[in-house]
Amino acid sequence: MKTIRGFQRLNASGEPMSLVTCYDFTSAAIVNDSNIDAILVGDSAAMVMHGYDSTVNANLDMLASHVHAVRKGAPDKFLIADMPFLAHRKSLEKTMSAIEKLMHAGAQAVKIEGVDRDDPIIPHIVKSGVPVMGHLGLTPQSVHQLGGWVVQGKDIDGESRLLEDAKILENQGCFSLVLEMVPAELARKITESLVVPTIGIGAGAHTSGQILVFQDLLGMNAEFKPKFLRTYLNGYELIKSALNDYTQDVKAHDFPGDEESF
Ligand code: KIV
Repeated sequence: MKTIRGFQRLNASGEPMSLVTCYDFTSAAIVNDSNIDAILVGDSAAMVMHGYDSTVNANLDMLASHVHAVRKGAPDKFLIADMPFLAHRKSLEKTMSAIEKLMHAGAQAVKIEGVDRDDPIIPHIVKSGVPVMGHLGLTPQSVHQLGGWVVQGKDIDGESRLLEDAKILENQGCFSLVLEMVPAELARKITESLVVPTIGIGAGAHTSGQILVFQDLLGMNAEFKPKFLRTYLNGYELIKSALNDYTQDVKAHDFPGDEESF
């Protein structure tokens, strides 16, 4: 799927959408050749690619550079870029320049965490021709306010706030919403209350689609085992074992052989 129209058509067909967060050219080329429906260049790049302990450390230059690489590797996939921490909180002018940079790097839409009821920026971005994906539930850029990576919307107040926020974001013009770490039943209610699709991570089975981080679903981080994650490869052990095989061959004077030499 190459465009937002493909995204909307797939959602209209009722088929669940599979999205992946991806950050680099080589991985993006594999994703491009796969059946994954769309790509997010997420601010989780700060953690997965740069080793920070939260997404607060992502910045515009970092994300634009990842978007650029992913766009080159995956020319055939609809590509959404995260607006990094505070990028839409400084001024309208700075917000629009940040978006310009991400779009020029190859994004076709941006994702913005949270909701602003009083001074909404999203309608302005949408009016400017840029599709916006919302993000509710656990919004990792607010981790210090939330006090950790915890499931959101577990009590009645939290639940009704999230239902309201989702409607507000839809009315502000979001074409889709990520729901992160919310109870499955609440994610179902939100999804049923909206026309636009919801994309879940840790939000159960009743969203319109799912998203996981490339490295997470391939099991490349042996220590990252949240309840919501299913791994499809033991990437950590497989890669480690390949590296050890290579080292063993080098040390045994077995690599390079004649066939690998000029
Ligand atoms: O940054 C990211 O990868 C995300 C997804 C997990 C939704 O925001």
